[in-house]
Amino acid sequence: MADMSLLILPGDGIGPEVMTEVRKIIDWFGSTRNLTFDVSEGLVGGASYDAHGTPLTDETMARAQEVDAVLLGAVGGPQYDELDFSVKPERGLLRLRKEMDLYANLRPAQCFDALADFSSLKRDVVSGLDLMIVRELTSGIYFGEPRGIQDDTDGGRVGINTQRYTTAEIRRVARSAFELARKRDNRVCSMEKANVMESGILWRQEVQWVHDNEYPDVELSHMYADAGAMQIVRWPKQFDVIVTDNLFGDLLSDAAAMLTGSLGMLPSASLGTPMENGRPKALYEPVHGSAPDIAGQGKANPIACILSFAMALRYSFDRREDAALLERAVEKALANGARTGDLMAEGDAKPLSTSQMGDAILTILNES
Ligand code: IPM
Ligand code: MG
Repeated sequence: MADMSLLILPGDGIGPEVMTEVRKIIDWFGSTRNLTFDVSEGLVGGASYDAHGTPLTDETMARAQEVDAVLLGAVGGPQYDELDFSVKPERGLLRLRKEMDLYANLRPAQCFDALADFSSLKRDVVSGLDLMIVRELTSGIYFGEPRGIQDDTDGGRVGINTQRYTTAEIRRVARSAFELARKRDNRVCSMEKANVMESGILWRQEVQWVHDNEYPDVELSHMYADAGAMQIVRWPKQFDVIVTDNLFGDLLSDAAAMLTGSLGMLPSASLGTPMENGRPKALYEPVHGSAPDIAGQGKANPIACILSFAMALRYSFDRREDAALLERAVEKALANGARTGDLMAEGDAKPLSTSQMGDAILTILNES
């Protein structure tokens, strides 16, 4: 294995299209920056179900455990809606997260100046925004037992999911949030529903414990998650790092995504504990989904996936300069007016295709 290994899982819908652009970027870093990756590719989600009858094979799972970083496109599509729950495309992604123990999901919401007018919020509310949501990703109601749909005593049925968090699970994700905050504006806001949930009370106490015992220098505040959702759309710049559980993080990060103008812009990193070589277990994926309505048409915005690769450069390979180089190229392409369909205003000229957007970013990289 080369010194830096990547497993690429394009997945479903627009996943393969956006990943093609990322491959071009990876090749560029190989040929001009001497960053050579051992790249392998596999199937996940519906694509894997179609080929193998399962959304993730054991072989692909094993490969994901071996490599330094997994890059994933998207999973899901309406043709899989009727499938049994256990083989739904999403189960492939959840298995990767769970078995790789990727407990800290970093979802940055940054508003590029060139796009501040695309947000549904006013320019002054979002311009300059730089917020980081740290979502717990391997526990909570997504995985808690008991779960299932059962016959109920009244002749009807009952659907059950369980919200469950342990001290260790809360403390480790809190540490991730405090560590990040120290490299940013040194502030963490923790969100739960301690007013109605015991798991929320424990969450609040354990985050406070980590703060008091290990990170007293970081400013910590607590907020109920519903109030937090409201504050995210009212005045998002009040936040630096938000730490929250799996389900609340899912919701709050979609809301935060809209602040940046388009869901097509947001990358994410899911990190676990360090491997033998010191690199963390890691999976990088755009926050957007498979967008079946535009799949296969060359309309998708590849930026979220490209920025996810930039996060891989930063968090897996410690190549901060290369990550910044790529992020600046994206920013400059947008400033030059490069726009895919999701970033168009009425009356704008024809949008760029997925591959034209990739090329626009490559052109800037070549000039750098
Ligand atoms: C996300 C997605 C996933 C989630 C789905 C695809 C399982 O919405 O990554 O935010 O709910 O975690
Ligand atoms: Mg989601």
